[in-house]
Amino acid sequence: MVKRPKLIACVTALVLVAVATKAQTVEPYKATLSIRADQPRWTINRNLYGQFAEHLGRLIYGGLWVGENSPIPNTHGLRNDVVGALKELHVPVLRWPGGCFADEYHWRDGIGPRDKRPRRPNASWGGVDTNAFGTHEFFELCDLLGADAYINGNVGSGSPQEMMDWIEYMTSDADSELANLRRRNGHDKPWKIAYFAVGNETWGCGGNMRPEFYADVFRQYATFIKNQSGNHIQKLASGSHDDYYKWTEVLMAQAGQSMDALSLHYYTLPTGDWSKKGSATQFDEKEWHSTLVRTMRMDDFIQKHSAIMDRYDPQKRVGLMVDEWGTWYDPEPGRDMGALYQQNSLRDAIVAGVNLNIFQKHADRVRMANIAQMVNVLQSMVLTDKGKMVLTPTYHVFRMYRVHQGATMIPVDLSAPEYKLGDAGLPSLSASASRDAAGRLHLSLVNLNPDRAAEINANVWGAAIKTISGEVLTAPAMNAMNTFDRPNDVKPAPFNGYKLDGSQLLLTIPAKSVVVLELK
Ligand code: AHR
Repeated sequence: MVKRPKLIACVTALVLVAVATKAQTVEPYKATLSIRADQPRWTINRNLYGQFAEHLGRLIYGGLWVGENSPIPNTHGLRNDVVGALKELHVPVLRWPGGCFADEYHWRDGIGPRDKRPRRPNASWGGVDTNAFGTHEFFELCDLLGADAYINGNVGSGSPQEMMDWIEYMTSDADSELANLRRRNGHDKPWKIAYFAVGNETWGCGGNMRPEFYADVFRQYATFIKNQSGNHIQKLASGSHDDYYKWTEVLMAQAGQSMDALSLHYYTLPTGDWSKKGSATQFDEKEWHSTLVRTMRMDDFIQKHSAIMDRYDPQKRVGLMVDEWGTWYDPEPGRDMGALYQQNSLRDAIVAGVNLNIFQKHADRVRMANIAQMVNVLQSMVLTDKGKMVLTPTYHVFRMYRVHQGATMIPVDLSAPEYKLGDAGLPSLSASASRDAAGRLHLSLVNLNPDRAAEINANVWGAAIKTISGEVLTAPAMNAMNTFDRPNDVKPAPFNGYKLDGSQLLLTIPAKSVVVLELK
């Protein structure tokens, strides 16, 4: 018995040596990449880097809002550490208050003195909402982050009158009852709403509607979204999910003229089975691979929904907004099922990079994307535990990729071998490029292969490159993660794996990594 720990240590050491040896002896694969700076395309809307905050689990309460009397340092109740970290991401737009919660939210509950606000059950996710975080707190958060406001209205249990009143309360500068109520509640000037959605998942938690019925409901509600005080509100219709193409077809045919945008939701589950989704942290290569196969489906869904939209809207006036996306795993054992708290590993960083590259490729139609969700819920940017906070691998990808916000998309032609496991194959590499207003090129690369580095022969067309700099995000294990005890196991490092020879570039990208480069 006494000798067992020694034995375990010995076996562990042997396994580690074997893994390390494998990593050293596996040959890199070769790839070629053309960066067509001579063929600039569309603007990458900065809103592709949008966030989503629902009243769910510990996102709002505990994650963002701790109240003014909390020992956790805060600004008017909003925690300083979380807001400070999120500011680094240049969050362009924030969607609130749901999600499914949006269709049970009554805005009057969340205004006025906090101690007088009603406590209501959160019917979608469990627990009781104190309503301490409401309209004023949301706009203060947007102000602190420098983000545009995207409000998701209540259709499922609301009314056009309730929606109209809320919009008047938020945006009117008239001498009217609701604008004056806002003033009495402490905010003199009207706020600006950039986006307003008519319900959420109205095919499901938002009312279980048929598309024909919702198309009429949308037209009715959209009529009463009125612009006031110079505000111009973009109206979003609640859109489809996954490959539910009929929804997009009917909505575009019957309500396309009345909307500015249509949404799309798609979550990445390692197994594709909602009753057994897979663990956030305990997985093998098979599940790494199946997760990436499933996340890559985003490309196909966007193409097919866009093709339907093209038939009704060839000018691409109507945006496709992927306003919920990300990984969704089984809850950790012992955690509240409804809270949707999950850890975030290097695999999530790869998922984030792949999806952001897909959105940029389709940015002529995709004008917004909101990862689900910002704090403590699903594929979040940060995790908190009382006064502690940790940045996730996904956070680092959003920070590295922020250089693409508002830049011009530069096409890339990539040729790389498949990353195969069993019968299933997927591209080993994903890439995206852009040119910013100052003329700098940025290239993001994701190596999906967990074992093999990529040796990429890259050619830049239409730009002379003299200097390169950048960062790489990787770690020794597929499920490497940051915890409150070890917050820096997955963090970006300077990238040195390049050789530059005229317009020829040789890049060596580590296995399972995300790289973002600046080429000048
Ligand atoms: O993001 C969690 C939930 O997923 C949202 O509330 C809902 O819209 C979707 O089904």
